[in-house]
Amino acid sequence: MRTPLVIGNWKMHGTVAEARVLSTAIRDGLKRPRGVQVVVCPPFTALAAVSEILGGGPIQLGAQTCHHEPAGAHTGEISVPMLAELICRWVLVGHSERRKEIGESDELINLKTRAVLSHGLTPVLCVGETADERRQGLTFTTVEGQLRAGLAGLTGDQIAKTVLAYEPVWAIGTGVNATPAQAAEVQGYLRGLLSELSSKEIAQTVRILYGGSVKAENADALLAEPEVDGALVGGASLNAQGFIGIVRKAARIGTAAKE
Ligand code: PGA
Repeated sequence: MRTPLVIGNWKMHGTVAEARVLSTAIRDGLKRPRGVQVVVCPPFTALAAVSEILGGGPIQLGAQTCHHEPAGAHTGEISVPMLAELICRWVLVGHSERRKEIGESDELINLKTRAVLSHGLTPVLCVGETADERRQGLTFTTVEGQLRAGLAGLTGDQIAKTVLAYEPVWAIGTGVNATPAQAAEVQGYLRGLLSELSSKEIAQTVRILYGGSVKAENADALLAEPEVDGALVGGASLNAQGFIGIVRKAARIGTAAKE
C-alpha cells in the first residue's frame, strides 16, 4: 500500500507575507492529516518563514529545485544542505518549466537527483511529454528517456527513496488535465520501467504522482486510479481551501485502501 502524497508547487508566487498566510491556513485546515502525506513547495525566499509556521508538524516542506553541488561559486543557486537546514525534506527535480525555461538537461537533472538523495532528502523527479510529442506518438519514448536519464546510476535502494511525477506539459496550467485513463496508462508504463531499473518489489513501493491542472473537482477521478499515488498541484495549491479539498480526497482514498 502506497500512502497517497499531495504536493503543492507554489512556483514563483507569493511574497513572504502571502506565504505566511497561505501556509498558516493550510496548517490550520489540516491539523492531523490521516492516510495522506502533504508537502508544500514555496519559493526559496519564503522557505524559512513557512518552515517556522509548519514547525516540524505533519505538513512537510519542499523546494522547487536545487543546485547539485553542496557549495561553491554558483551565483544565484541554492544547495541541498542549505535546504536541509530549513527542515526542507523534498525537492522537485526536472520540472518541465525548468527544462524549458532554464534549459535543464536530463544529465543535470540526474546530478540533482543524486545530490538530493545523497543528503537524505527526497527527490520528486518530474517527467512528461509535450502536446507535439503526444500527437506524434512519442509519449512513451519521451517519458522513458527522461526516466532512464534521471535515474541513471542510482541503486535500487536510491530508486526506492525517489518519488516520480508524471506531468504532461500540455496539462500544466492549461486547465486541461490528462484523463484518469491517460495518466494511468503512462504511470503504469513508468512503473514497468522502474521494475526493470530496480526490482518488481521496489517498483511497487515507489509513488508516482500525477500533475497537470489537478483541482478539487477532478482529483477524485484521477486519484481513484490505482496507478496514481497522489498529485503535484500547481495553480490550485495557491488557494488553501482548494488545496485542502484535494488533500482530503487523497486521504479518503488512502484510508479506504487501508481498511
Ligand atoms: P498546475 O501545475 O496544477 O497549475 O497545472 C502543476 C505543476 O506544474 O506542477
